[in-house]
Amino acid sequence: QSTITVDLTGVAVGTRITVKWAGKPVFIWRRSPETIAWARATSLDDLVDRIDYTDENPNNAQDMPALDVNRSADEAGEWLIVIGICTHLGCVPVGQDGSSVGDFGGWFCPCHGSHYDRSGRIRKGPAPRNLDIPPYSLGSDLMLTIG
Ligand code: FES
Repeated sequence: QSTITVDLTGVAVGTRITVKWAGKPVFIWRRSPETIAWARATSLDDLVDRIDYTDENPNNAQDMPALDVNRSADEAGEWLIVIGICTHLGCVPVGQDGSSVGDFGGWFCPCHGSHYDRSGRIRKGPAPRNLDIPPYSLGSDLMLTIG
């Protein structure tokens, strides 16, 4: 498995960037306080896929409810890092440029109409699962290692 290191110090609040890891797009989003609040206010009852298993979020030691606090990279929730591959049939969702984020403010998969929220969770459409989260570590110096 490959490893990459990304310097996130230049990423402004509210900005999304895409990097490539192990042949896959990885979406990185430095979320605004409003976005974090929105993502964290979502109830588990409103989710389609309520549990993130460890193979979908290897950063968790055990299966965890798909709460934003369990999916974001830092305690405050500023950083969200997800694999940019739709869990339906593998298209790359749009939204990284902010143009078409879908009905829930995250990403939209134009292939068959799946809407992901501000935490990368599936909310509407045929995709069965939340966007996967890659293995990573994020240092306090904002050096991100994926893999
Ligand atoms: Fe994304 Fe079908 S591949 S909705």
